Amino acid sequence: MILADSQFVKQIEAWGGRYLADQPLSEYTSLGVGGPADLLVLKQMDALEPVVEGLRRRGIAWGLLGGGTNVLPVDEPFRKIFLKLAPGSGDLVFNGRTVRISAAASLGRTVMECAKRNLGGMEGLVGVPGSVGGALRMNAGAYGTQIGPLVRSVTIFRGSTGRREELSADAIGFTYRHSSFAPDDIMLSVTLELIEKPFRDILELVKGCNEKRRRSQPVKEKSAGCIFKNPPGLSTGKLIDDLGMKGMRAGGAVISERHANFIVNRDGATAADIFRLMEIVRERIYQAYGIELEEEVIVWRN
Ligand code: EPU
Repeated sequence: MILADSQFVKQIEAWGGRYLADQPLSEYTSLGVGGPADLLVLKQMDALEPVVEGLRRRGIAWGLLGGGTNVLPVDEPFRKIFLKLAPGSGDLVFNGRTVRISAAASLGRTVMECAKRNLGGMEGLVGVPGSVGGALRMNAGAYGTQIGPLVRSVTIFRGSTGRREELSADAIGFTYRHSSFAPDDIMLSVTLELIEKPFRDILELVKGCNEKRRRSQPVKEKSAGCIFKNPPGLSTGKLIDDLGMKGMRAGGAVISERHANFIVNRDGATAADIFRLMEIVRERIYQAYGIELEEEVIVWRN
């Protein structure tokens, strides 16, 4: 338990928050790994400023736990507190072709809610697990769609200043699986500009993407999506596959037989197992092709 100041904890509760000590991060990540950490669950966004200020004054480090779908936390206990934001009600506010969305909302649900209003353009993102905020941070993409180009503006909480800012799209850099946000920026909401499209057409595209994904990715297993980025013009999955590495294991971690750039947690894998397997892949790829693979998954160390 990092937060020993019971007065501060009471204050947080009065703001609608909850302090949960020693939570296994493995239960909060899609990969199912990660050591114990203290969580601060915030329901009211107004509480963010005073909570962060309170942590800063007490010299307590903090991070943000979003959807937990693209992260790999180490097994050791964390010495920082993770903030977790509740999605809140009234997630989507429509205005013509634009929609304002809470960053904690689910990305897949958002695609479908917009579709019901005949707004498309992000069909490819439907099966990408995680929150809208996480998708922004990673500039998530699949099947020809990336979220970055759809962004009009983003409201963030700047960890470095403790203030909120509204950033227009031209103030944000989005590149392949990367955005210009600082690690301690917290996404609060985003306005996207979508394309008018009949619901039926969107549904067809969504079905097509879902089918492709089910065929080519281990959607039912615990994973963090693709583990490594693709080198320009190449598929890391194919490179690993061509080396015959599908099914290779380290402890409970296995290179998926369905897509070789996915490491799945099949038998109670630890983060250490995943790291071991990643290292083997990295070495073999370097030996075979002279390519240094870059992590796509975000590794959380203490
Ligand atoms: N391939 C193989 N063996 C494999 C995997 C792929 O031969 O084990 C071949 C496929 O048959 C295909 C080609 O490689 O001919 C490309 O495969 P795929 O369409 O699955 O795309 P990818 O480049 O491997 C990227 C993204 C995925 C995204 C898909 C679909 C990265 C690192 N990966 O994968 O994103 O879902 O395209 O658009 O950019 C993620 O971000 O976590 C992720 C999984």
